[in-house]
Order: sequence, then C-alpha cells, then structure tokens
Amino acid sequence: GAAQDLAGLKVIVSAGPTREYLDPVRFISNPSSGKMGFAVAEEARDRGAQVTLVTGPVNLPDLQGVRVVRIETALELRDAVLEAAQDAAVVVMTAAVADYRAAERSGEKQAKVAGDVTVHLTPNPDILAELGQHKGDRVLVGFAMETHAGVERAALKAQRKNADFILLNYPTREGTAFGGDDNEVTLVRPDGSHEAWPRLSKREVARRLLDEAAQHLAAGTRK
Ligand code: C5P
Repeated sequence: GAAQDLAGLKVIVSAGPTREYLDPVRFISNPSSGKMGFAVAEEARDRGAQVTLVTGPVNLPDLQGVRVVRIETALELRDAVLEAAQDAAVVVMTAAVADYRAAERSGEKQAKVAGDVTVHLTPNPDILAELGQHKGDRVLVGFAMETHAGVERAALKAQRKNADFILLNYPTREGTAFGGDDNEVTLVRPDGSHEAWPRLSKREVARRLLDEAAQHLAAGTRK
C-alpha cells in the first residue's frame, strides 16, 4: 500500500464546476469533470488522511472512505469548504469556481422575451483567498488555468491568495485539464520558482501534489 504519511491529518479537496442559477432551470457553469479533485481525494485517503471532498455536479460516484459533500453553487461550496477547513492540515482547491453569479436569482422561470436581454452578474467570493487570509498552519494549494503568461500570473495568484503553491494547467492541450484522464501541469510557488511536470495521469499529479504538500507540512508554513 501507499506510505501513510498523511495518517490522521484532515485533507479538504474541492472539485468540479459550480452552477450559478439565473432562474430555477438555467445556470452558468463550465465543463470541469471533477476528475482531478477526485484523484487528489483518493490519493490522500490511501495515504491515511481523513478526507472531505466538496464537489459540484459531476458524473463521478462517491469514493469509499471519503466524506463526499455535493453542492451546486459557489456560495454553497464556500460554506462547505470553510466549515470543513477549520481544523484541516491541507486544503486543495481544484474546483472550477464560477467567477460570477446572478445578482438576483429568480424564483420563477423567466419567460422568453423578444429581443436582447441583459443579465446582471456579481462576483463570487474567492474561497482560496479567504482561506489564505487566516492561513494558520494549513497548506493551501490552488489550480489555475491560463492561456498566456502562465507562470507569472500563477505566481501572482499564489501571492495574492496566500497559497503555498499553484498547479498551472492549460485549457488548450489535448487530453488534459477539462475532462481528460491526464494532466500536464507546472508547479508554481509564490516566489516564482516553478517546475514543469511531464504529462501524467491525474492520479500521478495528485501523488506529486501531495508529496509537495507533505514537504510544506514538515517545514511548517505559518504566514
Ligand atoms: O479562478 P482562479 O484562476 O483565480 O483560480 C485559482 C484558484 O482559486 C483555484 O484553485 C480555484 O479553485 C480557487 N478559486 C476559489 N474561489 C473563487 C475562484 C477561484 O477558491 N471564487
């Protein structure tokens, strides 16, 4: 079996997309499959962690030995993650959180009208940044998808959100990121130092991610 280097530690993982409802039957979302987050949850479980997986709507079954919390909206994700993260050692945010939600969610299905309509969107809270504001001893890990200036932007993101490191991936590489079973990521630290990993299965990415997190735990990361 796997090394039990996370035995007894609480690990929180977020996964999948969020749905931001405009009315009871229409929403804004994205094609996140949840596979990366589920792989991290499985790997953490196999290394002895007590795992909570908070996931948006995905076509993946519950994982044995993992507490799975199913949510839909970014606000629900926030509540579930902040609650679970209180005494966590590691938080890994793989969820593709929608940046915006409807400023007003209609309780009734909106009727079709002639001509254009305008939807008023309001920003969602940044959950990783909120966790970073009260970081304590927790190791915080983010993901970022960039189409250009990836390393620089990811390093700035890690700084701004007070994350220990970010795994940068690219939406344009065939068979990786959204929906794929593989991922090709670059580990980026807030100081800009980075390591490009080869194309790997999401499970292997999860393994390396948790290796890095375990090193940060051992070193102590209070900021
Ligand atoms: O969307 P962005 O590139 O800022 O995402 C970077 C990281 O921040 C991801 O790990 C994502 O899960 C997290 N995030 C979050 N809350 C948001 C937006 C992103 O926790 N509202």
